[in-house]
Amino acid sequence: MRMVDVIQKKRDGETLSEEEIRFFINGYTDGTISDYQASAFLMAIYFSDMNAEEQGYLTMAMVNSGDQIDLSAIEGIKVDKHSTGGVGDTTTLILAPLVAACGVPVAKMSGRGLGHTGGTLDKLEAIEGFHIEISESEFVKQVNDLKLAVIGQSGNLTPADKKLYALRDVTATVDSIPLIASSIMSKKIAAGADAIVLDVKTGDGAFMKTTEDAEALAQSMVAIGKEVGRNTMAVISDMSQPLGYAIGNALEVKEAIDTLNGNGPEDLTELCLVLGSEMLIAGEKAKDTKDARKQLNAVIKDGSALELFAKFLEAQGGNPEIVKNPELLPKAAYQIEVKSTTTGFITKMEADEIGVAAMLLGAGRATKEDDIDLAVGIVLKKKIGDAVKSGETIAVVHSNTENILQTERLLLKHIHISQHAPKRPKLIYKVMK
Ligand code: URA
Ligand code: CA
Repeated sequence: MRMVDVIQKKRDGETLSEEEIRFFINGYTDGTISDYQASAFLMAIYFSDMNAEEQGYLTMAMVNSGDQIDLSAIEGIKVDKHSTGGVGDTTTLILAPLVAACGVPVAKMSGRGLGHTGGTLDKLEAIEGFHIEISESEFVKQVNDLKLAVIGQSGNLTPADKKLYALRDVTATVDSIPLIASSIMSKKIAAGADAIVLDVKTGDGAFMKTTEDAEALAQSMVAIGKEVGRNTMAVISDMSQPLGYAIGNALEVKEAIDTLNGNGPEDLTELCLVLGSEMLIAGEKAKDTKDARKQLNAVIKDGSALELFAKFLEAQGGNPEIVKNPELLPKAAYQIEVKSTTTGFITKMEADEIGVAAMLLGAGRATKEDDIDLAVGIVLKKKIGDAVKSGETIAVVHSNTENILQTERLLLKHIHISQHAPKRPKLIYKVMK
């Protein structure tokens, strides 16, 4: 087989075979296919698209390019959740103990934040003593004992995706639906998921800015799941404004605890119930959404989800006391209120720009090598549709420096206020199975 023929076939809009796709992935991973041929091939995919079968082959070829986590020693259906990334998205911290308390095993591999989006590992590390360096066998044992464990990305998972992603970044081929869909799905499958619940975000703060694009991506991933025999469903949810109120690591841990206590922000709570329901159904612990919501609400109400969260933290070295006393979380030296300069209604809160403001404050990383400050961040006091008076606080900045001029300027610029009350954005656009 010659790579030039495979490129030409895709360039001309033909359908590739499993062998041709595997030939490319294996050759590119081991270096026998060059960057220039891979670049041309990616661009051909960008323009000619791939059908569900080809995307399934591409996904599995990437899964097979490296190690896979073997979770077969864990009893039950392993359901993983993946979010395409947002601002203030604390759902994993809430969902993991929530569905685990309902009996679905959660064996989660999580990542760090980059750019305007946060990462679950960073948030967990805001809890004193918590560590993710556990061996694969400890990981499996903990999930069997507690139903919940979280580790960092370990081993050589999907090296083909790593190499391709870097190449896509510099060849203008990142925003291709078959390439994004196969990239995400390959990582979830290599991490051992039997079933996958996807939270595909749409809006300013999301990778997919329009609902049409978000739906197309979700559709592709659900189709890949079918092709490769992993039950997959997708929820399209709003990221036109940050989720909940808190943005920043320790601040989001506190928001997660509030939510597990039943006192969380309305949007964050609802999204967790929607995603959690899909996870219980996929894990065969609930027969339908109504049954699932009843169970999820019950483990919030009786405190068992929060109790499980505390046990999980303790098992991985973290201080379980923070669950009862969030004051023990790292705290910034200054809490400074940002006040509105006009009276009206909040019409827009640009999630990506607010995420950048939190990042510049130190809550996130501009590059992978940056250090972050776990205590700092932004707590919004308003959401889209809320009335606001001149001089009223719209956000509180948690900072370790007294000078927050830059953050204040960004918040006032990207939180829009007008005289007319807008429609509140819809939280859930669609559930796709
Ligand atoms: N996230 C991924 O993991 N892969 C992509 O290709 C795009 C976003
Ligand atoms: Ca939040």
